[in-house]
Amino acid sequence: MKTFYWGVVQSAFQFEMGDPLRRGIDARSDWWAWVRDPFNIKNDLVSGDLPEDGINNYGLYEIDHRLAKDLGLNAYQLTIEWSRIFPCPTKGVEVKVERDSYGLIKDVKVPREALGELDKLANQREVAHYLGVLRNLKKLGFTTFVTLNHQTLPIWVHDPLEVRENLQRARARGWVDEGNVVEFVKFSAYVAWKFSELVDFWATFDEPMVTVELGYLAPYVGWPPGIINPEAAKAVIVNQLVAHARAYDAIKEHSSAPVGIILNTIPAYPLDPRNERDVKAAENYDYFHNRIFLNALNRGSVDLDLNWEPVKIKHLARNDWIGNNYYTREVVKWTEPRFEELPMVSFVGAEGYGYSGDPNSVSPDNNPTSDFGWEVYPKGLYDSIMELTEYGKPVYITENGVADSKDILRPRYIREHVDAMKTAIENGADVRGYFHWALTDNYEWAMGFKIRFGLYEVDLITKERIPRKWSVETYRSVVREGLE
Ligand code: BGC
Repeated sequence: MKTFYWGVVQSAFQFEMGDPLRRGIDARSDWWAWVRDPFNIKNDLVSGDLPEDGINNYGLYEIDHRLAKDLGLNAYQLTIEWSRIFPCPTKGVEVKVERDSYGLIKDVKVPREALGELDKLANQREVAHYLGVLRNLKKLGFTTFVTLNHQTLPIWVHDPLEVRENLQRARARGWVDEGNVVEFVKFSAYVAWKFSELVDFWATFDEPMVTVELGYLAPYVGWPPGIINPEAAKAVIVNQLVAHARAYDAIKEHSSAPVGIILNTIPAYPLDPRNERDVKAAENYDYFHNRIFLNALNRGSVDLDLNWEPVKIKHLARNDWIGNNYYTREVVKWTEPRFEELPMVSFVGAEGYGYSGDPNSVSPDNNPTSDFGWEVYPKGLYDSIMELTEYGKPVYITENGVADSKDILRPRYIREHVDAMKTAIENGADVRGYFHWALTDNYEWAMGFKIRFGLYEVDLITKERIPRKWSVETYRSVVREGLE
């Protein structure tokens, strides 16, 4: 029987900082600037909590790895933070870029000399840090999954405050700027070159559509750069698609490990299944949120203008595995398209369901909701897996978990979601791993420390890891039982 991977998952920005002596700070990312911006704090767009008061996985990773080991896990997923490796621009390093007839980047050559130059620009202390982290995981027998981009960008790539002020005039425009695709490829090539011996699975992006939806279409949710700009949203989609494909190629130059992408596949259901318009809204949600990336990267079917008219672009069909982050579903109803440029955005989440619930209540379907207000809906995990199965690639549940500081919902949440995954496997889905979000509490983006996902609570003063006992024991048993 093939190995099934049971793991936990962390991102860099949400877990790393928090040393009481302020060691291991990374002040060079967009999110670092974003969460301390007075306008954001004053307008309650962010919590005012600061990541440097956080979990300190950077200093305490050996403890966290040991906790993961003691749970019986065999896999560990983490992010190597771009802004730590390259705190300053890599733009001066020359690489060769080729384009296709649409003007899209179809090839980036990062020659040996370029890697040497990147090596001089890299922060070698941070390189040594991640080498240490990965070696420790290997020493403990873990299979390693490494993500190259989990939302955060170096501040020289994306200055969200400048962009919010004026996108045209901003110097660092994130994924809106195609030039940053090339910089990401350099970063990917460099990391693959440096770390390939210690990495078993690569992921390029974590949840690229979240960047699009929250950053460029919903300024009230506290996600950088916090603007409404559908044209920019489209550019961010295309540039991330190209960045994934070219990073894939770059990694393959140095590593034989599978390269995938992590998507938060959200199954959408019509509020009223007899209402044609609600049914259409659910289809549009699925197309926009789930299928754009899936179709492009697995089949080379690319909806460049986001108008349901995909074209075939073979050089974008690059993907060995699909990561699925699942928390809850969406129940949607029809609304007239909100942006002329994006006619498929014709849905709105129905109140009380999915992501649109009230904290610690029940949904209209009588499902409990988390501290975040997210509805507990395990069948959605089953449905999302079956959707991914259409693409014929191995699937890994790369995140699943629940915000539940009092540990009331989590044990059952874990069991029911793992059961839903097992049912999908019984029905033919090729699922090869499950990663819980998260081993410990984390910095929950705009919500700061108010939202707690950890199997272990973290005391933010002492940094002690305190088991949420019932969940720890549940996950341990689930892992011990395995797939039977
Ligand atoms: C993201 C994590 C986040 C979690 C809970 C996932 O979609 O990848 O960064 O903490 O959701 O909101």
